[in-house]
Amino acid sequence: MPKVKIGVFDSGVGALSVIQAIQKELPELKTIYKDDKTHVPYGTRTIQEIHGFVRPIFQEFIDEDCRVIVVACNTVTTNLIPQLRQEFAVPMVGMEPAIKPAAKATKSKVIAVCATPRTLSSQRYGWLKKEYAQDIKVLEPDCSDWALMIENNRVEHDRVAKTIEDVISQDADQIVLGCTHYHWIEALIKEVANGRAEVIQPTRPVIIQLKRVLQQLS
Ligand code: DGL
Repeated sequence: MPKVKIGVFDSGVGALSVIQAIQKELPELKTIYKDDKTHVPYGTRTIQEIHGFVRPIFQEFIDEDCRVIVVACNTVTTNLIPQLRQEFAVPMVGMEPAIKPAAKATKSKVIAVCATPRTLSSQRYGWLKKEYAQDIKVLEPDCSDWALMIENNRVEHDRVAKTIEDVISQDADQIVLGCTHYHWIEALIKEVANGRAEVIQPTRPVIIQLKRVLQQLS
């Protein structure tokens, strides 16, 4: 039996952490990874630009017979997934900031969402806040250059630490990693938080959703 092929996309290295988890949990899949090193980072670009970049890449996934596309990019998911679902007749699993679990878990009623500017300005993100975090203070620290810093493997530890200290000093007890690039600095963020705040990222729910979608394939 040929292996079921799936595509995993991110602008850059963000997808790799998701792929690691997929390969561990679902080793029977053939996983094709594509990124867009020419245009990364996406998080400071316009929606129209991003749409123009991802369309040909998604078409390549289709041409290569991928049965599912995992959009391992919060920026693309929150801004474009409904449109991409209409344009490409293949099931898609997206990734978006985990506001719902953070809002449920917070005791201080303050959470911090680390994400790209384009994710934070998306309608979907606004909806998530309205739906799940009405009575909660949501801090959105400036992480606008984190994706590039991580992509280029030049993480400025002190600057990340300062951002995290700052949200914790404002009482945040949940820190949402709303960009897959930031998964690579999860250990650093946890070290700085040192038990004062939980760090939440959505790889686990994505695997669960992917398993569900795979079961529904005919
Ligand atoms: N890793 C992506 C995300 O989850 C995009 C980062 C970027 O290209 O700015 O949002």
